[in-house]
Amino acid sequence: MSLKTLLLSTYLVSASALAASPTHAPSPQGIAYPEGWQHWATVSVSHRHDNHTLRVILGNDIAVKAARSGQTNPWPDGAILGKVVWKEMAEANWPTAIAPKSLVHAEFMFKDSQSPNGTGWRWARWLGTEQKPFDKGEGTEQVCIGCHTPVKKRDWVFTTPAPFPL
Ligand code: HEC
Repeated sequence: MSLKTLLLSTYLVSASALAASPTHAPSPQGIAYPEGWQHWATVSVSHRHDNHTLRVILGNDIAVKAARSGQTNPWPDGAILGKVVWKEMAEANWPTAIAPKSLVHAEFMFKDSQSPNGTGWRWARWLGTEQKPFDKGEGTEQVCIGCHTPVKKRDWVFTTPAPFPL
């Protein structure tokens, strides 16, 4: 191998290592981490004043397209909705505004009409900046499903997409 080839292949190997995003463990039900959600578009935002957290509700391309065109009952297969939760704090330079502090968790609903749990979605959450899978063993998805049951008729989704201009 010439020095030039060696240098080139070393460069290519390190470039591909840099391009790879960090991988996170799958959920206890084997649901893969939705890589790249940090770049998804916004579906809505919310604020819980009982536990002092701010949230953004995000969607992958399929979900955002459905949200913007009102195709949300049911959501189309392949749609993924994410909710990212931060502890709140006062905005440093404008204390009556609320700003995000530490990351609590990111959680996702994956639309899959064949889902084995019968809701038409798979459910998973990853905790903190380390994004460790939330693990309640076999009952993990049931934690989510139990609390989302009041909105079963809205395809299990609480959020009404925020209005956006065309
Ligand atoms: C204590 C009740 C509760 C539990 C448990 C719960 N959720 Fe939710 N979830 C809500 C509520 C209420 C909203 C809408 C308002 C908000 O929180 O911003 C929501 C919103 C969401 C959203 C945004 C779409 C929507 O339905 O509005 C996703 C995604 C989500 N939850 C996923 C999960 C996953 C995954 C789990 C289980 C790991 C889970 N949730 C557990 C109450 C719950």
